[in-house]
Amino acid sequence: MCGIVGYIGKANAPKVLINGLRRLEYRGYDSAGLAVLDDDQILVAKSAGKVSVLNDRARTQWPQELFNRVTTGIAHTRWATHGPPTEVNAHPHLDKSGDIALVHNGIIENYRSLRARLEGKGHHFFSETDTEVLAHLIGECDKGDLFQAVCDALHQVEGAFGIAVLSAQEPDRIITARRGSPIVIGVGDGESIIASDACAILAHTQRVIYLDDNDIAIVTADSVDIRDLNNVPVTREIAELGMDAAATEKGGYDHFMLKEIHEQPEALANAIRGRLDHDVGSSVLAGMGTSPRELAELTRVVMIGCGTSLHAGLVGEYAFEDLADIHAEVQQAAEFRYRNPIIGNCDLVVAISQSGETADTLAAVREANQKGAFVMSLCNVVGSTIARETGRGVYLHAGPEISVASTKAFTCQVAVLLMMALKLGRGRRYSREDGIKLAREIGSIPDLVSKVILQNDLIAKIAADYTKNEHAFFIGRGPMYPVALEGALKLKEISYIHAEGYHAAELKHGPIALLEKGTPVIALACDVPGKDKTLGNVEECRARGARILGIVTEGDHETAECMDDFITIPRCHPLVATIPAVVALQLFSYHVARLRGCEIDQPRNLAKSVTVE
Ligand code: F6R
Repeated sequence: MCGIVGYIGKANAPKVLINGLRRLEYRGYDSAGLAVLDDDQILVAKSAGKVSVLNDRARTQWPQELFNRVTTGIAHTRWATHGPPTEVNAHPHLDKSGDIALVHNGIIENYRSLRARLEGKGHHFFSETDTEVLAHLIGECDKGDLFQAVCDALHQVEGAFGIAVLSAQEPDRIITARRGSPIVIGVGDGESIIASDACAILAHTQRVIYLDDNDIAIVTADSVDIRDLNNVPVTREIAELGMDAAATEKGGYDHFMLKEIHEQPEALANAIRGRLDHDVGSSVLAGMGTSPRELAELTRVVMIGCGTSLHAGLVGEYAFEDLADIHAEVQQAAEFRYRNPIIGNCDLVVAISQSGETADTLAAVREANQKGAFVMSLCNVVGSTIARETGRGVYLHAGPEISVASTKAFTCQVAVLLMMALKLGRGRRYSREDGIKLAREIGSIPDLVSKVILQNDLIAKIAADYTKNEHAFFIGRGPMYPVALEGALKLKEISYIHAEGYHAAELKHGPIALLEKGTPVIALACDVPGKDKTLGNVEECRARGARILGIVTEGDHETAECMDDFITIPRCHPLVATIPAVVALQLFSYHVARLRGCEIDQPRNLAKSVTVE
């Protein structure tokens, strides 16, 4: 989604800002812009489309010397919400005087009434955006103190924001603030970088400050002064990013998605390392912050998430019930707070989110906290809002996930959920002997995944026969049902083939009407409980002319023979098998999309981190 970069220091600001925006491109956007401070006046360049177009625009619009002398500016990538992705709607937006520039992530919900009020006072608006209204409001509040003006304006605003504000009248500072949309400040040597995502800061410094909701900061080249919106100073620690800039490069792969699929053995090893206790057949997840007694008192596990993270939770549901004999359910984060969930202090609520910034999941976390549940998070991005608000949780350690389509985060989420279920299970019904066996299987996940990745070329060849269809169905049972949902999501989001995931038994309750000669049905037919029934459903599809691609267990020749094409996964525990199975589907989707010539890492209309409801 939208991205913010701000810079104040000693370097060439346009270059720093454009490079920062490039680092944020993975988040998904459709227009971009920047504003720099030159001789106490604000200059703006904007364009629809990619950051490269913006770069060309700025270079033709501004003289070369300007690039060498300006050292302060703000920039933005916009994912359109209010108004189409045009140049005029792109950020930064200026106030009435043209002396104040603003970039903004989030949504100002009461912008219509604010706009009407400002129009009544003679303000004229050029764009359809809520952001331009906020820029004018700040200008209206400005009586010679930009910080105070931003505070006064934000007091009148309803909704979510992460902002950076520049004023020609106060060239030594950028004001930044947040409510519901992340802001990180990089503390460099004689320079400060503001960003909505630490990836834009990495090239400058590892030292960062995360703003909390309702924090507002005066950022100069040498200082960061943080207050609340009532001008009361607050203290925020400087944290170390601990992120390697190389991890955000493609490293020789054609796409980040392919790189991230291949990184899975290592990512999973990092997610699992030090967290299995093979002697007692359990797991060690200190971040959960629970005593054995607290665990024993839990009566239910409720997982919340969106999209791929929701699918990971669905696998977790099977794991908690199977291994720990505890009632488990998954709820869509977007629905959670609107349906008055029945949650109490014996419930463990697990917020699952790669980015740790998804607005719906964050809102659900707040609702669960409100209801007194025991809330923890399962995030990948260290220091993200959900991770910080839950206070306790388990990080995935999957490394930066740049491709919009989630791959390694999903498999690491499932691996961590399996370890959580094992821990809960050992405190309940699961025997030491069974625990030791499962711990061993979980420990082998990186190798199981490597074996699937070795079939990359074969999967690419199979994919070539599935590029012409406009519809596809994925079917599975038990823990393979969420894998079918995830497989369908991967295919549709990157290849634009309409794909649906169904429980294998559900197909004949309606969707089977859509099958015709050659319609692809991808069947999760691994040798796990329920396989025979899935094979029955496969025959129902074949009888209607479907073309069947099976995910089957190595050595299960009889099942493989039922398929038109098949990809094998190693034999393993049924819950563990979800991970290699999904990796096979990730590779399949990737190759179908590649052969269809799709823009894999940044599919149309999608954003990496969805920070609006
Ligand atoms: C799909 C995908 C999305 C995310 C969803 C939640 O490939 O990546 O469906 O899973 O937007 O994002 P997080 O996990 O960051 O909360």
